[in-house]
Formats: sequence, structure tokens, C-alpha cells
Amino acid sequence: MQVLHQVKREDPNLIVGPASCDDAGVYKISDGTALVQTVDFFPPIVDDPATFGRIAAANALSDIYAMGATPRLALNIVCFPAELPVEVLNDIIAGAMEKLDEAGVLLVGGHTIEDKEVKFGLSLTGMVHPGKVITNSGAKKGDRLILTKAIGTGVVTSALKAGKFSLEEAADTIASMCELNAAASSAMTALGDAINACTDVTGFGLLGHAFEMADGSGVTLRIDSRAVPFLNGAKQLVKKKKNRPRNIKANGEFLCGKVKRGSAVNDATWDLLLDPQTSGGLLIAVEEDKSALLMEKIKESGSKALLIGEILEKECEIDIIVD
Ligand code: CO
Ligand code: CO
Ligand code: CO
Repeated sequence: MQVLHQVKREDPNLIVGPASCDDAGVYKISDGTALVQTVDFFPPIVDDPATFGRIAAANALSDIYAMGATPRLALNIVCFPAELPVEVLNDIIAGAMEKLDEAGVLLVGGHTIEDKEVKFGLSLTGMVHPGKVITNSGAKKGDRLILTKAIGTGVVTSALKAGKFSLEEAADTIASMCELNAAASSAMTALGDAINACTDVTGFGLLGHAFEMADGSGVTLRIDSRAVPFLNGAKQLVKKKKNRPRNIKANGEFLCGKVKRGSAVNDATWDLLLDPQTSGGLLIAVEEDKSALLMEKIKESGSKALLIGEILEKECEIDIIVD
């Protein structure tokens, strides 16, 4: 839900604030340094507490990586029922710590309240050079669109919760949600000015976040749906209504009139393009002549890199064309 856009205050050092649709706030504290701040928390999407902790941390870190920044400090945010054994919470935090250690981030504190339902997440602080902030609004005509993780975590975790899909079948989905976007982010920042825009793919789905990039940049995105990678089982699972997260419909309604859907795009593919993602990949707009190099660098780091589309000049009121 976006409710912050009307909260606007002027400050000469505020580089990215609530008026934009970016993933984190950016504030210059000296000529060489800007702070990047973000917060994310949500109820468990998997049963295993440590896995949930890993996913929550990877997801929260992602907003820092999307802006080309380096995460440094973290605070835990915990809602926890009094009747649950405290070991559950210890396991969640241990899972998160694993990912924070991997990211080189120091946990400096946090806050816990009693609540009916478990919720966990983190507030992260990162650092970036004020001149090297990557936003989601700089995409330019001719750029190529690169995606670094497969789509379908919403559908797969819904089916998992309902017992319609096994942990073994969902293994690639769990691994993908636990994976940090750190390596993809450093491959991206190594290319400097050739990177024009980036966002991470989360609750609004691939198309929702692509829309924010198109709208913020004043361009039209063309996405080749056949080039978009999907997680194991997602295409089959999404055909059953009970596996579809409610937000697929909401995400589609929000984009009504903004996206042109090609006649070859079937319903399963379309629904997955709208599927809300947790700890999704980076969606990067890179200059055409550097796109192959970027993909090579990301793959070298062990992550995925798929060329899924390109940036066109703004076409009437259409923000995205899906073929
Ligand atoms: Co984000
Ligand atoms: Co976020
Ligand atoms: Co406190």
C-alpha cells in the first residue's frame, strides 16, 4: 500500500524521499556519503522459523541493494504472541543473522511487542555516494531490461501453505527468496553510469514495479513474457484460483489501462506477471552496449540474469507493452 506520497517536506539534503516511488529514502550527510534507509516486515510465509528469518532479512536488504548502496546497520522489528515458545523467535532471528552476516551488516538493536500473530522484519541503513544513487526513474529509450530472479513466490508460497505443494517441489522458490541481491547489485554498481534505473520486484509484482519504473522515467517498457523466468510449478499452480494470492487481482486492477497485453500472452503467464513477490530479484535498466557485460558479470557472481525487454519512447498513455 502506498500512503506516504502526500507527506512532503523540503530539505536540501534529501535525495530520495516519500514523493518518489523508490524503495528507500536517501539523505546526504556529507559530500561523499548519503544514508539509505528502509524498513520491511510481514507475517511468516513459510513454516520453518529460521527460513522465515532468512527470507525477511534478504527481502529487507533488497531495497538497499536496488539503490546501488551498501547495507551497514540493522534493527529488528518483532511482533510475537506470548503463548508461542521463545525458541521460535530465537530461530527466526538466527536465520536473519545468517543473512546479515553474509551481507556484512551489523545488528544494532530492535524492538519487540506482543501481538496475536508473528511478524518479523528489519529496518536497514546503507551507505552510498550521493552522486551514485540508482533510482527507479532514470530509464532511457534504448536501454535493455535485465531481471535477476525467477517469478512466482506468491503463488508457490500460497500453495505451500495450503498443502498443495511440497517443500521439495518449492525448493527453488525458497532458495531464491533466501538469496541476497548483493552480488547482482555489485555487478550493477561496477558498471557506473551505464545503469540508468533499478528496482527490486516485490509486492506489486513484476508488472507493478515495471510500471513504477516506466511512469517515473517517462518511458514505455516492452516486456517479452517468453523471456521471463518462472519458478518450478508456478505456471501450473497459478491456474487454480485457490493458489492465487488476492493481490494478483488488485495488482491487475491498478494497472488497468496502463499495460497493453499482447494476444499471445496466456492467462497463467499474465497472472504470474502480477504475482506479488517476496524477496524478488532486481529489475535493471542498462544501456544497450553494456547489457551483455552486465549479464556476464551477474552470472559470474552466481546469480541469474535474464534479458526480458527494452525501453521505448513513451507511447501515448501506455506504460508497458507485454508480448
Ligand atoms: Co523494493
Ligand atoms: Co520495501
Ligand atoms: Co524499544
